[in-house]
Amino acid sequence: MSKIISGFSKLTKQEKIDWLSKNYFSSQPEIIQTLKQYWNADEKLQQLHDDFIENTISNFYLPYGVAPNFVINGNHYVIPMVVEESSVVAAASLVAKFWSTRGGFKTEVISTTKIGQVHFMYQGNADDLKRYFNQQKENLFNATASITKNMEKRGGGILDIKLVDKTDKLDNYYQLHVTFETKDSMGANFINSCLEAIAKAFRKEGVEIVMSILSNYVPNCLVRAEVSCKIEELGGENPQQFAEKFRQAVQIAEIEPYRAVTHNKGIMNGIDAVVLATGNDFRAIEAGAHAYASRNGSYSSLTHCEIKNGLFRFWIEIPLAIGTVGGLTALHPMAKLSLDMLQNPSAPELMQIIATAGLAQNFAALRALTTSGIQEGHMKMHLMNILNQLQANREEKELMVAYFKDKTVSHSAVVEKFNELKK
Ligand code: MEV
Repeated sequence: MSKIISGFSKLTKQEKIDWLSKNYFSSQPEIIQTLKQYWNADEKLQQLHDDFIENTISNFYLPYGVAPNFVINGNHYVIPMVVEESSVVAAASLVAKFWSTRGGFKTEVISTTKIGQVHFMYQGNADDLKRYFNQQKENLFNATASITKNMEKRGGGILDIKLVDKTDKLDNYYQLHVTFETKDSMGANFINSCLEAIAKAFRKEGVEIVMSILSNYVPNCLVRAEVSCKIEELGGENPQQFAEKFRQAVQIAEIEPYRAVTHNKGIMNGIDAVVLATGNDFRAIEAGAHAYASRNGSYSSLTHCEIKNGLFRFWIEIPLAIGTVGGLTALHPMAKLSLDMLQNPSAPELMQIIATAGLAQNFAALRALTTSGIQEGHMKMHLMNILNQLQANREEKELMVAYFKDKTVSHSAVVEKFNELKK
């Protein structure tokens, strides 16, 4: 039987599920019930989610948690986080509280420029092309007038259009490299619409447009977040030793790509969770962050640490092209709620909050890694997942959590103790 189907998107939701069930789950009729279990009882709300993408057949839950006690530039925040990894929200909360009594997080937006490019081929004379571009430049701006009108009212728009000769890298390859200010929107649709209008206006014989698309590499849409305190304020038994070991951990991530990738992954645990909670595009953020981490030719840490004159400083610099208007931000009720929780920030304010979440996450990871190791805390948080897998009831969970309070959690130890309890 062929499993290739035409016109699948035209089927009703029920027909899609029936087709899936018949073709891929013939011995598991219960999947229909599982899929339906996750439908929202409010039909209007479900329809909203159905319409986000094509072929929606159900919803996929991720936990929505909050990390309180963040102090950023003197303002207090509870940060919403959407993430499945057990220890992320706990770590963020712990670190937020820690720094709240040490001056909090200090942040600044360094720049907010976004980029898009029209990629094209031209076989003729480069000087002729330059002349043509200079003649056309004003027309290119004019060609986007109807698109940029509203954005200009909000203080944004196209900042510049440059012709770039890339023929030394690829025969006949040129670009129109366009810089944008998109204010509180991420601006992906705005940028792509402008680029397509520019490409159309730039067409002439000999100019072969290949594609017009924004770049997710945004090194000039950059934010910085920092924490600092006197070394003795770091607390613990030996704060000097802690600070030095912590700095060594950062230095290792600065020069060793294998470590840097994991180090930055930990940062993205915090960043993505807030990006998701606020309805932003985490794939764009991931791609841009990792490209930035490699900007000097070798993949490196996004955070840095300094110990100078008795002061410990730890900071992150990361490009974040996000929005607080447009996209899903107003459409998804939970994204809207997240932005309300954050006191309806502008895009630059949200950049600072997100960078803070990334820095906090990295601080938590490095503090654990350079002291007790991460498994202790991680497995404690993971205990509940194991208990759920074992289908423990509430009473069993309470007993198990109490039992493992002062013991090492491992999958086998939990299973063994659980079986003992069951007897
Ligand atoms: C786990 O999700 C993240 C860490 O591995 C990050 C790190 O090693 O820095 C703990």
